[in-house]
Amino acid sequence: MSTIYLDYAATSLKHFDILKNTINELENIYANPSSNHTLGKKNNKLLNNARKYISQTINAKDSEIIFTSGGTEANNMIFNHILNSYESGEIIISNIEHSSIIECANKLEDKGFKIIKLEVNKDGVISLNHLKKVITENTVLVSIMLANNETGVIQPIDKIADIVKQHNILLHSDIVQAFGKINIDVKKLNLDFASVSAHKIGATNNFGFLYAKDSKITPLIIGGGQENNLRSGTSDVLGAVMLEKCLHRTLNSQKTLEDMKNYFITCLKNHKVSFEINGSNIHSLPNILNIYFKNIEAQRLITFLDANNIFISGGSACSSGSFKGSRIIASMYNDERAEKSVRISIGYYTTKEMIDITVNKIKELENRILMRGK
Ligand SMILES: Cc1ncc(COP(=O)(O)O)c(C=O)c1O
Repeated sequence: MSTIYLDYAATSLKHFDILKNTINELENIYANPSSNHTLGKKNNKLLNNARKYISQTINAKDSEIIFTSGGTEANNMIFNHILNSYESGEIIISNIEHSSIIECANKLEDKGFKIIKLEVNKDGVISLNHLKKVITENTVLVSIMLANNETGVIQPIDKIADIVKQHNILLHSDIVQAFGKINIDVKKLNLDFASVSAHKIGATNNFGFLYAKDSKITPLIIGGGQENNLRSGTSDVLGAVMLEKCLHRTLNSQKTLEDMKNYFITCLKNHKVSFEINGSNIHSLPNILNIYFKNIEAQRLITFLDANNIFISGGSACSSGSFKGSRIIASMYNDERAEKSVRISIGYYTTKEMIDITVNKIKELENRILMRGK
């Protein structure tokens, strides 16, 4: 039985062909990129070429890209920056942010900051009117993710920015899930900061970057002064080159992802599975589907597919385990719907055949439940 991996939003299948080629390329360039000799300089060039390519794809300057150990660290840098820049103030986030934002915000709340968590509607989108109402002259940061990791729903960051920038407030967006999957222009979105993770697009774990407008950010990790004194620690050239190459591949596969996602929905309809998509399917990423199966408990579906070598998830990886329902789907709808909703996230290696097999299995389980009444 071959494996069907449909949990790309937790982590993408690695692009092992790119990894192997990159390791071969780097085999003879093993020096520290900060070393002032020929090998070191060669490595430094690779690092900065990667930075240049990555920055251009989001319309940033290369000096605005600060490599980090991933999205979690980039998110932590933002809240550390706020803690270092202001004695108190109000921070606005949404209640569907990744745990690395929620936990950082909670920590600042303990330190005296006021945290406002905006709720989302059934489409999975925050209310701009609510944002307008809660923003005050005491607001120091607004941090709203570009696309959600469980629903794939895209927030109207450009409109959010219009409101936030009227007040001259810092705007951060966690663009971890959206990066590469949709085109992003940090200048058009008017972002001050954006966080990115490499393993979501098939590159290495524990790598990513923070985009910081005009490089204005307080370092979280200090030491050797790498990354222009903004993030210390010996630079990860393999991580950077992998990110560069995997980004190139991801940008070129957006249309295929979209087609595959639509094919999945069409197959479910053709098989007459009883389902609804959670959140807006119009403003959403081309690779994430969150589906409410009216007749099937999520945990049962996950276990059944798992036994058939098909891997999906109930929600974000951190909150999975024994699945009681996603907090995000529960906040958009209700607990009952959350208990019957799963996330299916596709990627570069997903084929129509894999989707056919998966949908057949889903229909098989639904039939079984309907026939036996359990
Ligand atoms: C929306 C979002 N933000 C942040 C992260 C954390 O990124 P990393 O795993 O690189 O620390 C993730 C990963 O699960 C995510 O989905």
